[in-house]
Amino acid sequence: MRMPRPEPGAEPRLDLSIRRMGPSDLEPVMRVERLAFKSPWSAELFQRELLHDWSTILIAGPPGEPDVYGFLIYWSVHDEVHILNIATDPLHRRRRVARRLMVAALEQGRARGARLVTLEVRRSNLPAITLYRDLGFRAVGIRPNYYADEGEDAVVMNLDL
Ligand SMILES: CC(C)(COP(=O)(O)OP(=O)(O)OC[C@H]1O[C@@H](n2cnc3c(N)ncnc32)[C@H](O)[C@@H]1OP(=O)(O)O)[C@@H](O)C(=O)NCCC(=O)NCCS
Repeated sequence: MRMPRPEPGAEPRLDLSIRRMGPSDLEPVMRVERLAFKSPWSAELFQRELLHDWSTILIAGPPGEPDVYGFLIYWSVHDEVHILNIATDPLHRRRRVARRLMVAALEQGRARGARLVTLEVRRSNLPAITLYRDLGFRAVGIRPNYYADEGEDAVVMNLDL
């Protein structure tokens, strides 16, 4: 008999640690980036982010191991946090990896005195929009034709910290 598939969100909880990305994490982060996006960022772009004081890349993975299950990039500018990018390895989706990364970024923003978190998301990206709504973000506007590849609109979402 086939086992029933678990409900979304009912997968066993992953033992995860969240830490800041360093140069030696580039390869596993790029692997997730390529799996997650049709037009992935280049390795050079990630390397440049690592050099900016205002940029933080958080990675989620098994404690004490170099594997990367997901990552999140945010900028911290004055009293704002801007989420640039978040992705989870398809093998580990719906196991709260992205939620844990977002919560860590929001906590870090709060600790630095940020008051507002902003992000843009493709209008069609229901998984991401659902994640952000779940965390309390609200849609505040549309940027038409924001994504150069397909000319898709972006939804701008904000969260007051
Ligand atoms: C969006 C993304 C990062 C979510 O990652 P994830 O680790 O699977 O998300 P989580 O398991 O933490 O999900 C948290 C919540 O988000 C929502 N969610 C996540 N995936 C969803 C899906 N496929 N459909 C509907 N809701 C979804 C749910 O509310 C979920 O909570 P639940 O599992 O308790 O129902 C992942 O799908 C991804 O990497 N997509 C490709 C890259 C991308 O589009 N990034 C966003 C750029 S703005």
